[in-house]
Parts: sequence; C-alpha cells; structure tokens
Amino acid sequence: MYRIFVTRSLPGNALDKIKDRCNVTVYPLDRTITKDELMTYLKEADAVISMLSDPIDKEVIEAGKNLKVIANYAVGYNNIDIEAATKSGIAVVNTPDVLTEASADLAWALLLAVSRRVVEGDTMTRAGKFRGWAPELLLGVPVYGQTLGIIGAGRIGQAVARRAKGFGMRVLYHNRKRLPEAIENDLGMSYAALDDLLAESDFVSLHCPLTPETKHLIGPRELGLMKQTAVLINTARGPVVDEEALLQALRKKTIFGAGLDVYEKEPLLTPGLADLPNVVLTPHIGSADTRTRLAMVDMVLNDIIAVLNNERPQNLVNPEVWGRR
Ligand code: DGY
Repeated sequence: MYRIFVTRSLPGNALDKIKDRCNVTVYPLDRTITKDELMTYLKEADAVISMLSDPIDKEVIEAGKNLKVIANYAVGYNNIDIEAATKSGIAVVNTPDVLTEASADLAWALLLAVSRRVVEGDTMTRAGKFRGWAPELLLGVPVYGQTLGIIGAGRIGQAVARRAKGFGMRVLYHNRKRLPEAIENDLGMSYAALDDLLAESDFVSLHCPLTPETKHLIGPRELGLMKQTAVLINTARGPVVDEEALLQALRKKTIFGAGLDVYEKEPLLTPGLADLPNVVLTPHIGSADTRTRLAMVDMVLNDIIAVLNNERPQNLVNPEVWGRR
C-alpha cells in the first residue's frame, strides 16, 4: 500500500475514498507542521499533500527517500524547491483553474471593501458610533467607471478583468508576455508598461507569481507613482510588495488604501500595519470557498493516484521529471 502524508487536515471526506488503496496519515495538529516533523513524516511517504505554508526545501525533499509526488494544495508553488524535486525525480503538482474564480472574487471583495470603507463602517456601526446619516460620513473613492490595473494577467488576473466589465471600468494590464489580441479584445484590456499602469490606475491588483523577478516589484518608487486616490490589492504573494514601503505610503496617505490577503513574512504582519484604518487585511483566504477547497482536494488526489499508477498527472509543474521516467 502506498503511503500518503497530508500536512494539514483537509475539508470533505475525499481522503476516505482512497483509504482502501493507500495508507493515509494526516498531521494531527491544527497548525503549520515544523520542518523537523515534516522530515520525519516524509521518511516513509510515497506522496505528500503540502500546504503553501510548508517550505519544501532541498533538505526536506532529500528526507523523502520514497517520495514520488509532492501535491501542493495551492496554485502557487514558490514554497517548493522545484529544481531539487526534479533532480530527485519527484513530480510536483498543484491546483490551477479550480481556484481561479474564488481568488478573483476575493480580490474584488478587498477592492470594494477598501474603496467603500466597508470594514471601518462595520466597526463604527457595531461600536454604536453610527449617530445618523451624514453627507461626509466615510467618504470613499469611486469604483464604477474607474481604471483598473492588473499586474500578472494569467488565469486569475483575467478573471479579475472579466468582473471589471460589470463595473464599466477601463482595464490596463502588465504581464511578462503580452496576451494575444483576441484575449485583450475579449476582456477589454490594454497592455501598459508597468510605470504607466501604476500612474494611470485607480486600482492596482497583483496577480503575478512570486519569483526572484517579482520580489518587491512594488516598492517605494512604484508606490510613489500611484495616484493619491489609488488602492493597491495584493492577493498574489506577500513578498511581491515591500510591506515596509507600503506601510509608509499608507501612513503618509500617498495612496488611498490597500487590501491585502498575503504578507511578506506570513503569517506575521509588519508592525503598525494592523493599526491603520486605510488597509483591509484578510488571512490568505483567496481560494477559501467550500466548492473550491473541495475541488482542490479532488485535484491533488487525482494527480497523486495518477503518479503512483505511473500515469502522467494533469497538473505537472515540472514536466522535465516525466521525460526521465
Ligand atoms: C494559492 O493557491 O496559491 C493561493 O494563494 C490560495 O489563496
């Protein structure tokens, strides 16, 4: 029987369905597994379902002597040393597509919450401080008809753009590679150089993967290019934004606000960030709706079973590994 190790309890009961074929162990604690614990559990495992919060580095990979597949329960896989996995002949799979719409919804939830000061309004109302309608109460920035700048126009970035149609927005995008004209036309998006996008957008939403090139893509210079009325949304990866620089921009009000689902030193926040009223903070819940999280379980299990049956998995991140089989 193959051994599957899961680093955190998953929603639904899909794991039960494979228990006749596989020996499944789920990390019993409701917290992120430590590196030492992970290395111990991996000694025996043929497959692991890892979370985006589990750093799977070279040392961890080498501890998995029998490991054939690492299934990351996320679309992003910057937590995994892909080169080391590939060198060890281990397939890495992830969960693209199924979480696209949920992640785009959350980016929009933050965009609307920041621009219309929803959280400040909620806090004020709960505290009994709503003393009647007033013309200047919690004035936000307009959304409808404004310009949205999308950085990283992959699946999620495009899904965010699609929603902007309903808000009558002009949409700019910046991407490593320009998209085919047909997609640009379909989504009503225009390509822009990064600096132009930052200067012209009322909302800047980040959807690029974290790579050495995108680390601190948004720093003091870039924040300085943004309008004083602009809002920054980050549902991609924390280190894409220089969080200290963002804190200063929010403090000095050189931008209107920010909506963050991800953090540079997740789960820690830059001190001071949580005290600011012009930022809305969520705990990395981009894909967290029930339908999506259940579909992600099915997806990682299907790909694990495929690899263990020596069949090519659907969402192989390191295709080079397959050619060598
Ligand atoms: C992912 O899957 O990479 C997302 O960050 C989840 O929110």
